[in-house]
Parts: sequence; structure tokens; C-alpha cells
Amino acid sequence: MDFPSDLIRFLTKAERVSVLTGAGASQESGLRTFRDSQSGLWAQYRPEDLASPEAFARDPKLVWDWYAWRREAIKGVRPNAGHYALVEMENKIPTFTLVTQNVDGLHRFAGSRNLLELHGNILRVRCANCGTFTETWGDDTESVPKCERCSGLLRPDVVWFGEALPRAELESAVNAAREAQVFFSIGTSGVVQPAAALAHAARNKGAVVVEINAEPTPLTPKTDFAFHGKSGEILPELVKAVWGNNSR
Ligand code: OAD
Repeated sequence: MDFPSDLIRFLTKAERVSVLTGAGASQESGLRTFRDSQSGLWAQYRPEDLASPEAFARDPKLVWDWYAWRREAIKGVRPNAGHYALVEMENKIPTFTLVTQNVDGLHRFAGSRNLLELHGNILRVRCANCGTFTETWGDDTESVPKCERCSGLLRPDVVWFGEALPRAELESAVNAAREAQVFFSIGTSGVVQPAAALAHAARNKGAVVVEINAEPTPLTPKTDFAFHGKSGEILPELVKAVWGNNSR
């Protein structure tokens, strides 16, 4: 792929780069994106109807089982070339912040260091009542496991629709967007706030905004550069075009 020379120049000189990723960044690892239709057992539900406190209150077992199924899917997958290209980029840029909406932990697995998980991490589990984290729980298939401390129901440590994002992570993400000279929006439909607002915050402060997505999104008209295709292909090519083959 030929990248515009302006973009190559911006990145070569950039001291501060921030990146926002969404489910599309994990698609090539074999995980379904959030707004894909669901498969098999779960085809009758919309993810939006399972990822909420109301859904958990109504039917905790259904929600727990959906996350248990997703957790199992994640255990079998590996980061893809796009995840690793972002690690390469972090190695080249003095101040690099990776903000992700993904709860799958694949950026950390790949080796990203300055990482903000805005929507939590599905591999962590905490008590819905007292908040205590736990690493082990019974695998009774009949009911939702309970907290050893207070007997509250256990839930994934992710942000559900209608819940607040972790304050410190959100503040850091907003600052990173405002300070960025180049801001990437990668594999996200850009429809879920407040993450979607980060690209606009960066743009308002004068950042060059770059989108990499399988298809155009509501952000596309506001970007300086938009590349439509797979992030696992475009990102490694971009890193190679800017920093060469031996970019470590
Ligand atoms: P979506 O499922 O809404 O969007 C995935 C985006 O990735 C789409 O725009 C696709 O076009 C794009 N895409 C798919 N495959 C791709 C690939 N190989 N390379 C590049 N792009 C690709 O997922 P998110 O935007 O992450 O939040 O959704 C945001 C949030 O909505 C999620 O974190 C989740 C959900 O509500 C919570 O659970 C709180």
C-alpha cells in the first residue's frame, strides 16, 4: 500500500501519538466484533441486551454464561499482526498511549505497555455487591458463582452500558488525545461514547487524525487520512513504511 508522504513525515517527526482501538483490531485474531451478528447459541440475543446492569439484574445466569463463553473464546486466540505493529510503534514514539475499548487483553498479551483499558477486562472478575476481585470461582453450571466474602454475585470487570467508565483511565485517555500530534482510530465503529469523542478532542487540539477501519464510519469525514481495510494488514505496512523493516 502507498501511504501519503505527508503522513509518513508526520509520523517520522511525531513525539506524541495516541491510538484508540475497538473490536475490529481483534477481528483478525478470530474474535467477533461487537456489532457483528452473534452466532450459534447466542444468535437470538443482541450484545447490547446482554451487556447491561439491567440484563444482569433480570437474568444473571444468562449474562454470566455469555461472558463465560466469550472468555473461553478469548483463551484460544492470539494477538494478530496489527497488535504487534502497535507495539513496534510504541517502541519508536517517545510518548505513546494506547487506549482500547476491547476487553480481551490482547494488546497487553502482545506487549503494549502504556495501555488504558477503558471498558475493563473480561478476564477479571469481581463481586457485583462489594467489588472484591477474585481469580478463582466454582464452575457450578446451575448458578452464578458467589463472592466468598459477602455472597454477592460475581460479574466480569467490564463496563456495561449505562455504567461509568473508570475515572482515572478516562481522564488519562482524554489527556492523551488532547496532547497527541497524531491520533489513530482503529477498528472502532465510533458510536459508543465517551470513547468516540476522543478523536474529536484530538482534532480540536490540532492533531492529525488517522482512521484505519474495514469500512467508512461516522468519523471518516473528519479525518485527515482514512484507510479502509484490515488493521492487521495496514498497520504493519504503515510501520514498515515509516520506520523500515528493522523497526525495533
Ligand atoms: P464495533 O463492533 O461497534 O465496531 C467494530 C469496527 O471494526 C467496525 O467499524 C468494523 O468496520 C471494524 N472492523 C471489523 N474488522 C476489522 C478489521 N479486520 N480491521 C479494521 N477494522 C475492522 O466495536 P467497537 O467500536 O469496539 O462496549 O464497539 C465499541 C463498544 O461498543 C465496545 O467496547 C462495547 C460495545 O458497547 C462495551 O461493552 C461497554
